[in-house]
Amino acid sequence: MKDIAIYIHIPFCISKCYYCDFTSFPNMKDKLDEYIDYLLKELTLYKERIIDFNIKTIFIGGGTPSYIPGEHIYKILNYIYKNFNTSKLEEITIEANPGTLNKEKVSIYSSLGINRVSMGVQTLDNSLLKAIGRCHKVEDFYNSYYLLRKKDIKNINVDLMFGLPNQNLKDVINSLKEAINLGVEHISYYSLILEEGTLINKWYEEGSITLPSEDEERKMYHEAIEFLKSNGYNHYEISNFAKEGYECLHNLFYWKVKPYLGVGLSSHSNLAGKRFWNSSSFNIYYEKLKEGEFPVEGEEQIFKEIEMGEYCILGLRLIEGINKNEFRNRFNIDIENIYKDVINKHIKNGLIYENKGFIKLTNKGLDLSNLVEVDFLP
Ligand SMILES: C[S@@+](CC[C@H](N)C(=O)[O-])C[C@H]1O[C@@H](n2cnc3c(N)ncnc32)[C@H](O)[C@@H]1O
Ligand code: SF4
Repeated sequence: MKDIAIYIHIPFCISKCYYCDFTSFPNMKDKLDEYIDYLLKELTLYKERIIDFNIKTIFIGGGTPSYIPGEHIYKILNYIYKNFNTSKLEEITIEANPGTLNKEKVSIYSSLGINRVSMGVQTLDNSLLKAIGRCHKVEDFYNSYYLLRKKDIKNINVDLMFGLPNQNLKDVINSLKEAINLGVEHISYYSLILEEGTLINKWYEEGSITLPSEDEERKMYHEAIEFLKSNGYNHYEISNFAKEGYECLHNLFYWKVKPYLGVGLSSHSNLAGKRFWNSSSFNIYYEKLKEGEFPVEGEEQIFKEIEMGEYCILGLRLIEGINKNEFRNRFNIDIENIYKDVINKHIKNGLIYENKGFIKLTNKGLDLSNLVEVDFLP
């Protein structure tokens, strides 16, 4: 039986952060029950299609899954336990915002086998949190963190962001230092992306906020890498760091282009040679499910050349790089037979190098990975 990862999207938040363009909506508490009912309908439709898979990981993401009552999380996971093959399940993650957790919720999570909590912390500076529209304070993070530890959650990730308005290197290192001192197992470290339609993007275009220069932003990245490495965190993906044995198994499914099924508004799947994605509109999502149809908005066939390109692009995001043997075993052809010119071009310009059967980004390549990636597109 093949392994699969399941993603469940919870599109609700307390408020909208100024930088965020994920499918997430504030002030919709009255929609919760209905949404969960439809999620279960969608899962029911997939019963036949994933009967032959072992579920290895589940990721409940959002939005803010920790915002909704624990009983809803219970309903979802209980349904999965009852109807799918979960005997090989290793990792269940839930995303949580500091301040939305309480004893009751965390007890429910533990009793359901949730063994990883990913907290959106962003920064440990109250004025920066306010500047990016976060609805919590640094103190809320500490309270939530200790609560999770008390309830025996042994695998905690924190998301931190850099390149924020008026943020400097000292702020960034300070947030990392505090996370390290607490002993978190995993750190996701994201550079701010200016997304169209967000308030931060609007303010930036109007000139009412300033962002760190590109040089400063790159310094925040490279100094963080050194700092985290010297504190025992393995840099295993462009934006991700983990203590040994705590790499995120779920995200490794994406990066290794293994099968995954996403359910819920706007979620994406990669299953049986096809990539498909759900509608982001509640109405369309509900209407299709009411008719007993998959709430899919679009799909594409993953032809071999697309899959090979994707495998290389995502493989390069991993710091270990593309495993040449794995490529040969998967596609029955040597990587050089397909990408010799691309590989030589980027070795020559210093963006990638080969070492012990792996092709990986150089330090310079970490900053310019998009230049390499485009050349692997079919
Ligand atoms: C889908 S969000 C969900 C986590 C949770 N809702 C929270 O924010 O606390 C996952 C992470 O993506 C990152 N993120 C969201 N928007 C971003 C942006 N525009 N640029 C960079 N990182 C972003 C944040 O670090 C966030 O914690
Ligand atoms: S809490 Fe998370 S998902 Fe919600 S708006 Fe903020 S960053 Fe986006």
